[in-house]
Amino acid sequence: MKIPDDIAPPRGRLGVLLVGLGAVSTTFIAGVHAIRRGLAAPTGSLTQLGTIRLGKRTDGRSPRIRDFVPLAALDDLVFGGWDIFEDNGYEAARKAQVIQPDLLERVRPDMEGIEPMPAVFDRHYVKKLDGPNVKTGRSKRELAEQVIADIRRFRAEHQLDRLVMIWCGSTEIFLEETPVHASLAALERGLETSDAAIPSSMIYAYAAIREGIPYANAAPNLSADVPALEELAQATGAPLAGKDLKTGQTLMKTMIAPGLKARLLGVNGWYSTNILGNRDGEVLDDPESFRTKEESKKSVLDHILQPELYPGLYDDLHHVVRINYYPPRGDNKEGWDNIDLLGWLDYPMQLKINFLCRDSILAAPIVLDLVLLLDLAKRVGMNGIQEWLSFYFKSPIHARGLYPEHDLFIQLMKLKNTLRYLRGEELITHLGLEYYD
Ligand SMILES: NC(=O)c1ccc[n+]([C@@H]2O[C@H](COP(=O)([O-])OP(=O)(O)OC[C@H]3O[C@@H](n4cnc5c(N)ncnc54)[C@H](O)[C@@H]3O)[C@@H](O)[C@H]2O)c1
Repeated sequence: MKIPDDIAPPRGRLGVLLVGLGAVSTTFIAGVHAIRRGLAAPTGSLTQLGTIRLGKRTDGRSPRIRDFVPLAALDDLVFGGWDIFEDNGYEAARKAQVIQPDLLERVRPDMEGIEPMPAVFDRHYVKKLDGPNVKTGRSKRELAEQVIADIRRFRAEHQLDRLVMIWCGSTEIFLEETPVHASLAALERGLETSDAAIPSSMIYAYAAIREGIPYANAAPNLSADVPALEELAQATGAPLAGKDLKTGQTLMKTMIAPGLKARLLGVNGWYSTNILGNRDGEVLDDPESFRTKEESKKSVLDHILQPELYPGLYDDLHHVVRINYYPPRGDNKEGWDNIDLLGWLDYPMQLKINFLCRDSILAAPIVLDLVLLLDLAKRVGMNGIQEWLSFYFKSPIHARGLYPEHDLFIQLMKLKNTLRYLRGEELITHLGLEYYD
């Protein structure tokens, strides 16, 4: 893509459509309102707090990212969404039990105004859930048209200039690509015939992309990650990002594994287990939804450690991932990792990580960054897969024939270099020889 001459400024209001008003969505929305009111800080958000070095280290130019590229202001975000439950944003946030009650009360009026639209939902794809706020239609095509009508109504009602849609719904069952996903024509025929290989998340993705709206998938299910929707995104100018937010244990994995590999320390075992008690944990208690998550979590190490390039160090790795639904912990997940390492002369060592984290507190700033950066991508004219947003995902979507980049630090460099590129600034290679000439 060529450097844009200019980037359209973020004029007017940006609609944020969230599919699923659960723990992640409500923590994100309540957080943005709390930050707007000056009640809390946007900790964890690159777009709000991150800086970007420009030019030489001696130049002393490190503006805030939000001052370097034109991003929508938090005051200009307008929230809406769909859920199978009728709870408004406040009720949903209260039930999710992530935001402390005293803070939630202070943003209550903002949250109460968010009424979920009836959802496209089919229990076939999420076995552990059922709810009353669901659309009906004769075919999946008809359901997609209803979602498009919702989007247009929301845009008109709130006088929105632009929109972004993020799937923050539950993890659907594991599905593989089939011929119905191979082209737009096949997918549209499949919508007519209600093909079983088209899950609810794909119907929302189709609707958003057909409207030219940026779409991201916070969960690991297939959703927009199929050739048919990439084709549509190219045609309508919709940027795409996904899949599965990189938050707790996998975030740690993609920090630690590159470090071990950098020092050529062998790894022959990585055992990861979690306890989690929120609704996400309950959905993942179903083996078919868990399989989707497991595939997403497990692919990371292979790509980072590259066993094919380092036989002897990483080709005998036993990587196990477990998630156990344990209600007493709610959203406050606990993860344990045991890593079996090999040092000089293959002497064994062990590394233990015990991360007591908060799932949605880690996810919310990512959702905010994705909203703002996808809106930027749209204004710049970047269509289809946005590989520079891999930084935020466990299973980054990528061009066919490429392997995904999982190393968090390479991902961050890629993201910042993309921003430099968009602004016509020199890319930073970290070579640094010029300081010694
Ligand atoms: N740190 C994190 O929290 C994290 C990290 C990575 C991925 N994720 C993924 O993000 C998603 C959301 O996580 P969460 O903790 O908010 O879960 P949650 O269960 O609290 O919320 C999901 C919401 O989606 C709704 N939903 C399900 N199917 C729907 C449909 N077809 N249409 C509309 N609404 C639907 C559910 O009713 C629920 O309210 C999950 O898939 C999870 O695996 C979360």
